[in-house]
Amino acid sequence: MATFDVSPIVFEPKCEICELRGVISYQHKLESLYQLAIEVVALRDLQLVLDTSLSQCLALTQSQFGFIGLTTEDGSALDLVAIQGFKAEPEFYDRFHLIPLRRNIFGNTILENRPVRSEDASHDPARVGQPSGHPSVRAFLGVPLRVREQTIGMIGAANKSTNYTDEDEQLLVTYASLVAIAIHNANLYEQLNASSEELERKVTERTQELAIAKDDLAQKAEQLHKLLDATVNIQEAERARIAHDMHDGMTQMIVSTLFETQCAKESLALANYSTATDHLEDVQTLLKQIDTEIRSIIYDLRPLILDARGLVPAIEQFTTRCQQYSQIKCSLNVLGDPYRLRSDVEIGIYRLIQEALQNITTHAKATLADIRLEFSKERVIVSIRDNGIGFDFEHFLNTPGEHLGLIGMKERTQCIGGQIDIQTKPDHGTRIILIVPSGQLP
Ligand SMILES: Nc1ncnc2c1ncn2[C@@H]1O[C@H](COP(=O)(O)OP(=O)(O)OP(=O)(O)O)[C@@H](O)[C@H]1O
Ligand SMILES: [Mg+2]
Repeated sequence: MATFDVSPIVFEPKCEICELRGVISYQHKLESLYQLAIEVVALRDLQLVLDTSLSQCLALTQSQFGFIGLTTEDGSALDLVAIQGFKAEPEFYDRFHLIPLRRNIFGNTILENRPVRSEDASHDPARVGQPSGHPSVRAFLGVPLRVREQTIGMIGAANKSTNYTDEDEQLLVTYASLVAIAIHNANLYEQLNASSEELERKVTERTQELAIAKDDLAQKAEQLHKLLDATVNIQEAERARIAHDMHDGMTQMIVSTLFETQCAKESLALANYSTATDHLEDVQTLLKQIDTEIRSIIYDLRPLILDARGLVPAIEQFTTRCQQYSQIKCSLNVLGDPYRLRSDVEIGIYRLIQEALQNITTHAKATLADIRLEFSKERVIVSIRDNGIGFDFEHFLNTPGEHLGLIGMKERTQCIGGQIDIQTKPDHGTRIILIVPSGQLP
């Protein structure tokens, strides 16, 4: 760091040589000042800029102590951001570092935007009160710090052994203009650093969010894959079951029917009418059985009643069947005036209730299952409640494994634009609530 020539300017009786010496000495000081300013302007850390500038200012003006103050954002006070020349205790600094801007020798420097000089600051009409613990101020020189047209603060120097001269003032004004630029640059640099840190923080945050979203997506994709596999398997199993049912049940009955009609035909040929009638009655019985069988297969494929008459009758029929085949007492309550929804929404709701009841009969060990359908202007609310053993829902959500029913319910809900809430606790039963907006009208 450059050092400043602080040797006092010696006033000697006027002679040409003395004047020449004075000019050389002033020029020398200006050159040193220029070097110092270059160093300060190159600094990036604001506090370092302030401390270095202040110490150079004190050396430059041969002052005992001094300060740099920056105006607060609202312009109402001066914040003493650097103090040198006497040791201020931290409590002293905390209490007195903010000086309200009033018409006094500090305030005038800023408010009138000009250098202020005083030969005896403690008796100056525009004096500033001294807090106790502050050394008394005699000679004072204050200069504003300006960036473009704006005054951002001031430098105050005090207690030179003699009075401050025009030359001190001129040097300090020149130096202050460079210090102001250095302060401005350091501020910009700090802002730049803060925004790039903020940017980095945001990038890190986003990267983490993206990584989480990616994991979620991968998990979802895996679940969907399993669901698709399961759907295909279920379809295959269903086809196989229907094929077996038809083979074991219907084809056997059709063969029997053919046999009975053949017998009836032969009995008629022999004019054995009573036997022919018996065979034809058997044919009728067999055809009725075939009819029931076909209806049952069709019902499993798709409940026709759902398309023909809507959700409420279809669920009524399903709960009745469910009650017949299990020990569970199923009840259905309908609130509001039922209306039709889009067919994919109706089948979605129907399948969801089917899966919920399936789970109740296979897992819940329940004695009661209560289904409630509530139709209002804005939405349809479906609730399926049982009084069974409940389960640890979080566990199945995080480790779906082979269990795809609940995941399927969630997927279906999403597909029909609804919301699902599954409330369950071990030993406290289970309640599934599905809300579908009525915007899903046919
Ligand atoms: N109402 C219920 N009461 C008690 N436990 C339940 C209930 N519903 C679901 N569970 C538990 O949650 C698990 C997951 O159910 P989910 O329907 O996802 O799969 P699953 O029924 O086991 O198999 P599937 O894929 O054939 O449906 C069940 O195995 C069961 O332990
Ligand atoms: Mg299930």
